[in-house]
Amino acid sequence: MAEIAVSMRNITKQFGKKVIANKDVDLDIYHGEVLSLLGENGSGKTTLMNMLSGVYYPDSGEILIDGKEVSIASPKDAFDLGIGMIHQHFKLIDVFTALENILIGLPKENTEKECRKEVEAICSKYGFELDLDKKIYDMTVSEKETLEIVKTLYRGANVLILDEPTAVLTPQEIEKLFAILRNMRNDGKAIVIITHKLNEVMEISDRITVLRKGENVGTLLTSEANEQKLTEMMVGEKVTLDIARDFVEEKAKRLEVKHLTVKNHDDKKVVDDITFDLYSGEILGIAGISGSGQKELLEAIMGLQKCEDGSSVIYNSTAHGVHELVGLSTKQIIEFGLHLAFVPEDRLGMGLVGNMGMTDNVLLKRYRKGAGPFLHKQQPQATAQKIKDELEVKTPDLDYPVRRLSGGNVQKILVGREINNKPTVLMTAYAVRGLDINTSYAIYNLLNEQKKKGVAVIYVGEDLDVLLALSDRILVLCSGKMNGLLDGRTATKEEVGYLMTHLKEETNGKE
Ligand SMILES: Nc1ncnc2c1ncn2[C@@H]1O[C@H](COP(=O)(O)OP(=O)(O)OP(=O)(O)O)[C@@H](O)[C@H]1O
Ligand SMILES: [Mg+2]
Repeated sequence: MAEIAVSMRNITKQFGKKVIANKDVDLDIYHGEVLSLLGENGSGKTTLMNMLSGVYYPDSGEILIDGKEVSIASPKDAFDLGIGMIHQHFKLIDVFTALENILIGLPKENTEKECRKEVEAICSKYGFELDLDKKIYDMTVSEKETLEIVKTLYRGANVLILDEPTAVLTPQEIEKLFAILRNMRNDGKAIVIITHKLNEVMEISDRITVLRKGENVGTLLTSEANEQKLTEMMVGEKVTLDIARDFVEEKAKRLEVKHLTVKNHDDKKVVDDITFDLYSGEILGIAGISGSGQKELLEAIMGLQKCEDGSSVIYNSTAHGVHELVGLSTKQIIEFGLHLAFVPEDRLGMGLVGNMGMTDNVLLKRYRKGAGPFLHKQQPQATAQKIKDELEVKTPDLDYPVRRLSGGNVQKILVGREINNKPTVLMTAYAVRGLDINTSYAIYNLLNEQKKKGVAVIYVGEDLDVLLALSDRILVLCSGKMNGLLDGRTATKEEVGYLMTHLKEETNGKE
């Protein structure tokens, strides 16, 4: 095998008195390999890599680069040593162009003209597509990520660390990224990738190192690994990865969506004449390549989007009666028991307050629901405790600021809170984004429990295998149109995949 690029020896990092994020970790990264760093939410992956990129300094242990011991006290030190990390939250300046962003912070002798030439050379060498004159605010997430990688390479990175780079990309964009990573690997770069998606781990990496509770529990060759084995290493015990699908006999029509249409700023229909019914006791899966109107569809039902004339959403429940939702405020709709757990690209932007702990974040939601001026902290505390137990949220205590928790743990709180709000209709979009495999299954179980209780569940997901295993029916979106409504028990992956990408001539709504 090639030479070792980075050696971490006996690395320990503790936060405060209670959290040991990394304990005596040894890790080798070779030139010319892709190493997957795998582990449950909160197992210390990001923290370990942050010590290579100069964000944190280890409490003890040593780091060797190309065999020489080094001290990495700042991101600049890391850059000087050829280490670059792509974080989940990009650090780009919105009003600047791509090229300007690459030049920020560099000495004056880097002229625009030379930089452009060099960056273009990097792009053609590895296969990046990047418009250097585009402003950041006009860019998609994928373009921003590409820019971050190119910027890092321009600064001379030989070791490249990517923290959950695929979490917000479409399957097509992921394929492109992987092709680039392979080119970089063949060029001798050392690459570390963090991802929770085991199929990606199996596809892109050469070796896999697994962390559990901050410790390195083993490294194996990808060719000798499989998903079951990896999951057991992560969790530390045997796990069964099965999604149950119960059949609920008694069903009542909860939502009747008719001709629902939403236009975007450019007057383009992003939700185009969608018509379907939603029943209690079912999970309706929504499939589609990302950006096919999933987000807007759910938001339209929740009163968060302006619907075009002719759109109608009839809500019917024993407790609340029959109502037309189009035209009602989101607040009223929530009061009817409709809940939306949408996991956005920026988790902390979505109704969680970073400086507050779990209890206060649960309280926040209850208060918004109009709990009245007398707030009792007891009930939210019990709810918070319940979410913590069910989803195994790793937090020192219920009042610990959520912004200090690992990415996946923040998300568990978000999803757990919506599920615990006793919904009659529960809509979730990308609920398992960034969650480790074990927790993902915990979420599937929770959704199933909700269904059995008679909740009408809409599940927007990215993983077709999961959609096919979980859903009673699958609605396929393609370019904002409803391109099929299939029985989840008989549909095949090929069928759904085809409908996601090929618009039928005759679409819905033409009764
Ligand atoms: N700045 C910080 N202050 C206090 N605790 C922290 C800080 N950063 C991380 N932690 C804690 O250290 C532990 C490891 O977190 P880390 O972010 O490294 O996990 P991770 O493996 O990247 O998880 P995920 O898959 O959810 O992103 C967690 O318990 C987290 O709460
Ligand atoms: Mg992380």
